[in-house]
Amino acid sequence: KQEVVALGEITSFQSRTEEFGPYEWYKRMLESEPAVYDEGSRTWNVFRYEEVKRVLSDYEHFSSERSRTTINVGVDTKEGSLGDSKINIINSDPPEHRKRRSLLSAAFTPRSLKQWEPRIQQVVDELIQNMRGSTEIDIVAQYATPLPVIIMSDLLGVPSHDRHLFKRWVDILFLPFQKENAEEVNRLKEQAAKEYFNYLYPFVIQKRTQLAEDIISDLIRVEVDGERFTDDEIVRATMFLLGAGIETTSNLLANTFYAFLYDNPEVYSELRADLSLVPHMVEEVLRYRFNVTKLDRTVKKDNDLLGAPLSKGEMVIVWMSAANMDKRVFEDPFTFKLRRDNGSKHLTFGNGPHFCLGAPLARLEANIAIRTFAETFRRIEPVPGFQLEANLQTSAVGQSLSRLPMRVEL
Ligand code: HEM
Repeated sequence: KQEVVALGEITSFQSRTEEFGPYEWYKRMLESEPAVYDEGSRTWNVFRYEEVKRVLSDYEHFSSERSRTTINVGVDTKEGSLGDSKINIINSDPPEHRKRRSLLSAAFTPRSLKQWEPRIQQVVDELIQNMRGSTEIDIVAQYATPLPVIIMSDLLGVPSHDRHLFKRWVDILFLPFQKENAEEVNRLKEQAAKEYFNYLYPFVIQKRTQLAEDIISDLIRVEVDGERFTDDEIVRATMFLLGAGIETTSNLLANTFYAFLYDNPEVYSELRADLSLVPHMVEEVLRYRFNVTKLDRTVKKDNDLLGAPLSKGEMVIVWMSAANMDKRVFEDPFTFKLRRDNGSKHLTFGNGPHFCLGAPLARLEANIAIRTFAETFRRIEPVPGFQLEANLQTSAVGQSLSRLPMRVEL
């Protein structure tokens, strides 16, 4: 069982708002040593771009097999964990990782992506259609939250009318760790994992006799070096795909609109005037407004690659959100800008062998969603009196917007 390190211990942010945009903290940490030791949590912390990239890609020294982590995924039961099976790619190192990854990649081929595009467009069009009649919308409730859930259930090949169930299960399974309520949260997670498992298992069995164009069928079909997924592994793999793919993409979308409204209000009309800039917008939100992304690794061999003596077994936390603000790589890093020539160099999707498998899908969803929205609505404006602090909630990926009202004009 992994010990989960609570980030509050390291960061000591004073409010949700500060955690939503801890730019002052990043600035300070980027100017400190390349590896900063935190006594309270017994962790090394890395903020600069080159060093973050190094830790993520150098699996010979920094391992993904860990006994302590910051990521609180699933629950330690048969139904709710990846265990040490071949679906557990996130906690393994090459060479084992390579085989696991090529098995799971079956769900993310370029061919699938091409097939998904019209399906994503259709879901986007329907959600936009529902917003057309309004002058004020909550973009979180009406767009950013439903879109990835509908798409993921559609791509998996399960009925999207049950998507509220997915949303609830995934929210519970990826609840962040809090010392005070750990037991209670664990019980909720065990329950959710069981319900999810019981719900999805029959679908997998049924698909075996009726393969289709969806992720579950792809996972049934795939074979690498004579290995295949069992039904049980497929169920648990989908649970982690939902966890990896829903909230992250919702946040990307919600943060995009937050950036339009508050980070740089000129950007929306600039974008409308030239829709070829949509991919740049998506990358800039990933760079600037995807807080607070961090990953952890365990030191595999004693080394001083980060300018400090790191010992085998110690935990290293890399802060990609801070690395994305490193002026050694990004010019004027604390400004949100549509036009950057190296904006997509951000480390929000990780780096090296574990680079996010769903990145092409997340990018595709966000691009279609932002482009279609911008084609439809001529103007967007903040609703006066919006209180950021009251509309943030703690989530697995940090602070996320629970609501973002805005005025819209067709
Ligand atoms: C891995 C971020 C969307 C599936 C990762 C990693 C990051 C990340 C940082 C690397 C983990 C590590 O190095 O330990 C994000 C962000 C997303 C996103 C910011 C959206 C904005 C998705 C989506 C899916 C997905 C939509 C699939 C439906 C995965 C998988 C891995 C992964 C399977 C494991 C890859 C491996 O260990 O080899 N993601 N992700 N992600 N992501 Fe994503």
